[in-house]
Amino acid sequence: MSETLLKVEGIGKRFGGVQAVKNLSFDLKRGEILGLLGPNGAGKTTAFNMIAGHFAPDDGKIWLDGQDITGKPPWSVCKAGLARTFQLSKPFGGMSTRENLMVGTLVKTNDRAHSERKADELLDFLDLAYLADIDAETLTAFERRKVELGRALSTEPSLLLMDEVVAGATPQEALQMVELIKKVRDQGVTVLIIEHVMKVIMGLSDRVIVMHLGELMANGLPADVVRQPNVLKAYFGDDYVDTGA
Ligand SMILES: Nc1ncnc2c1ncn2[C@@H]1O[C@H](COP(=O)(O)OP(=O)(O)OP(=O)(O)O)[C@@H](O)[C@H]1O
Ligand SMILES: [Mg+2]
Repeated sequence: MSETLLKVEGIGKRFGGVQAVKNLSFDLKRGEILGLLGPNGAGKTTAFNMIAGHFAPDDGKIWLDGQDITGKPPWSVCKAGLARTFQLSKPFGGMSTRENLMVGTLVKTNDRAHSERKADELLDFLDLAYLADIDAETLTAFERRKVELGRALSTEPSLLLMDEVVAGATPQEALQMVELIKKVRDQGVTVLIIEHVMKVIMGLSDRVIVMHLGELMANGLPADVVRQPNVLKAYFGDDYVDTGA
């Protein structure tokens, strides 16, 4: 089994006149948590969408576990072991929390009893068992985020892509989410996470990459990357002055 789980090589995507992602390459090691940083509009979600099969890259190649998944549709990429959460979480309305978690299990099984068992395991794992029979639409924003994570995990992925997991969460909830993602990794899932909240990224990532204007700008240990002058400039603009401090 190779150490590399995801390999992205030179992918690009253009929307009309906008080059949203340009010649992006990076690897993800098995068991790693990689943070994807970058200012608004840097191309992070577009990169995710290409990896998860929501649209095909114009250029480049993507491999998951040695399998070429370039341009494959989301269901096929999901079968190959990739799951994702979205920037905005929308549970299936009119369905209970448990049923929301059962849907994803159907990727791997047709057996309802097995599906229920898996959903119940996830309810425990996410600390949502007390909300199992509630209509998922009535959940709070943070509970929805957890259901969103659970739905992704219900497909039993080897790679989990998460887009802005603590947006709108209280600091306490953000901390809970960080602990939860660590637990997910401890279960053997590799994680690629987009997040603007520095504290979350710093506390969670083994390594970070930074995108700016569609391109890769930095790749390294979190503490090193956030000190790089070009990264600070990308975030804070030309007003940033490197004092060497
Ligand atoms: N479907 C689309 N059609 C046209 N332009 C798009 C589309 N999706 C993204 N873009 C453009 O591509 C660029 C990158 O957007 P993207 O959403 O990938 O950035 P992001 O890094 O995820 O930003 P944010 O931090 O705000 O979520 C932006 O200029 C955006 O306006
Ligand atoms: Mg985005």
